[in-house]
Amino acid sequence: MAKRPAGTLYRGKVGMWSWVLHRITGVAIFFFLLVHVLDTSLVSLSAENYNPVIDTYKTPLIGLGELGLVAAILFHALNGVRVMLIDFWRKGAKYQNVMFWIVVVIAFILFAGFAPRHLMNVFSEVH
Ligand code: HEM
Repeated sequence: MAKRPAGTLYRGKVGMWSWVLHRITGVAIFFFLLVHVLDTSLVSLSAENYNPVIDTYKTPLIGLGELGLVAAILFHALNGVRVMLIDFWRKGAKYQNVMFWIVVVIAFILFAGFAPRHLMNVFSEVH
């Protein structure tokens, strides 16, 4: 019997899953930006409502969501550079796998610098 190729129907592995993650993070960031443009536009449209609306974000749930947002932005931005290198650098495709893990490590280091400070802000009394 013929040997089945590795991975899922789409062959899986880093190449496919990094693309899936890039699309999910791209769309998630887009929806955040949509809301962010709307809330910020209150400054000129209805200034007296700006602070009350922003105050509704100061909850632990939104604070944890912000952790997810920063993780998504870090991955998307760094992996976006990887995608461009795959597209425009002659050896990009050859090194796409190792570049994915470099993206993960750099994203993790940057996230580790952000998360503790952010959590202290979210869970302290004073904002
Ligand atoms: C430093 C910032 C960013 C970089 C370097 C970057 C890079 C990229 C690249 C290279 C692609 C093409 C991926 C491909 O061809 O497979 C892409 C796709 C995309 N990006 Fe970004 N991006 C950035 C910021 C953003 C932001 C702020 C948003 C949302 C508002 C966003 C939303 C998307 C979406 C929705 C896609 C399409 C994903 C898909 O078709 O699978 N990106 N990005």
